[in-house]
Amino acid sequence: MANTESWGSRVGLILAMAGNAVGLGNFLRFPVQAIQNGGGAFIIPYLVCFLLMGIPLLWVEWSMGRFGGRKGNHSTPFILHEMDPKRALWKYIGVFGIFTNIAVAAYYCYLESWTLSYLWHSIAGTFNGQTADQVAGFFGNYVDINTSTTGIPFEPIVFWIICLLLNTWILAKGLSGGVEKVAKVGMPLLILFGIFLAIMAVTLKSGEHGAVNDGTVGLNFLWTPDYSSIWTAKVWLAAAGQIFFTLSVGMGSIQCYASYVKKKDDIALNAMSAGWMNEFVEVVLGASIIIPISIGYLGIDRVVEMTQSGGLGLGFKTLPYLFTQWGPTLAMIAGVCWFGLLFFAGITSSLAMGTPVMGFLKDEFGWKHKNAAWFFGLIILVLGLPTVLYFNEGVFDEYDYWAGTVGLVVFALFEIILFAWVFGMDKGWKEITAGADIKVPTIFRFIIKYVTPLFIGGVFVASLPGILEKITSTGLPWQVHAARVLLLLMFA
Ligand code: TRP
Ligand code: TRP
Repeated sequence: MANTESWGSRVGLILAMAGNAVGLGNFLRFPVQAIQNGGGAFIIPYLVCFLLMGIPLLWVEWSMGRFGGRKGNHSTPFILHEMDPKRALWKYIGVFGIFTNIAVAAYYCYLESWTLSYLWHSIAGTFNGQTADQVAGFFGNYVDINTSTTGIPFEPIVFWIICLLLNTWILAKGLSGGVEKVAKVGMPLLILFGIFLAIMAVTLKSGEHGAVNDGTVGLNFLWTPDYSSIWTAKVWLAAAGQIFFTLSVGMGSIQCYASYVKKKDDIALNAMSAGWMNEFVEVVLGASIIIPISIGYLGIDRVVEMTQSGGLGLGFKTLPYLFTQWGPTLAMIAGVCWFGLLFFAGITSSLAMGTPVMGFLKDEFGWKHKNAAWFFGLIILVLGLPTVLYFNEGVFDEYDYWAGTVGLVVFALFEIILFAWVFGMDKGWKEITAGADIKVPTIFRFIIKYVTPLFIGGVFVASLPGILEKITSTGLPWQVHAARVLLLLMFA
């Protein structure tokens, strides 16, 4: 089957792209990054990174995608090569845009599968009557494959496989028949659930249902600008990393989705619609759920302390317990909204990780669509298994660091140089503005050429000490070393 799919409608395309960006990162990663980096000190660097790095990269990646799609290329090795046909180098750099998707999907789908399990336990009322320690302990038991005291035998593996099958099945149905449909149902529901939870959170009253702070205490912690620690490298790196992760840039998934846009269709406005929708979901909804609720019940100091050694569990360890304080009925509704929202956020992103891999197999080897989908499911099963079995040894975090953090910055650096300096800004600007339904501010021509590459380069250089420290740290379990070898082999 020729690789000639396309999106069904403009609304569908924007929702699918927004679904690609809106993910677990918006609800679990953003609040934790903000808490770890001082709340009000984080927000300004974050917004600056969005304007100088996020928006330019969105336009660059969307236009690269549509450019490649015109000649029937749907994955970054071919798209990059087409932009500079004389050098084969770009083809190899483009391979990043396949493997990062695979490596990120390999751990992301495991996290996504927790939301299914917690959805089930919220409906079953598992957490009602449990103490805070019991609910937090449930999470610990869950991710420890050996204890498995959570009710269903091999529970994490069961839900993980269900999650992988769901992803594969939807991918097999195609772009307009699968991915787009899920986005059209999932995104509106996600926003609805998010608004409900945000209202519950910001209207928390200290003294009611065991809360010790009003919901506004957490909001003020985040939104009161703190200029004292704004010049810390750590805060800027965290802000830049979050912008990359949340917008899904530097990975090849936007280019792939955009390669199915029709030749003459707008990208300038579409890119902004999807990008700003992501920011709305992140800084309005994402910021107004975990932070106000957990600070409302536990206070700022305790929450900051809980996130010091990684905050992935915050939404799973604390929220289900805090919900039970609202009584069994509301606890069930809130649980379904929270984990349902996380599930939709997660699946619309993991589908976006599968599409470039499938596009590559179809373009390069002429694979049938369905076979490509099942092959993707199979690779994720094999490469994801270590993150499931050795979660406690840190394999999950290792994948997240190399593929979901460092990998994105490196790839984005290459692609912005290719776009602005090799392909050239004259052609590049034409690509961005062709068919545009908005006037792209001319200042962005300058920003894309000079500011964004320098900015990304600066982020990369500033993160080198941290990377070196990671590589040279000692006393790591063998599973982590094995994971590194595995990741290295994938990229080699
Ligand atoms: N943006 C998604 C989130 O916020 C995750 C994601 C999807 C992603 N595709 C990506 C992250 C590509 C990095 C690169 O959860
Ligand atoms: N290392 C990250 C952290 O603890 C892991 C993480 C948190 C994450 N939330 C996430 C990874 C959401 C993917 C998606 O902050």
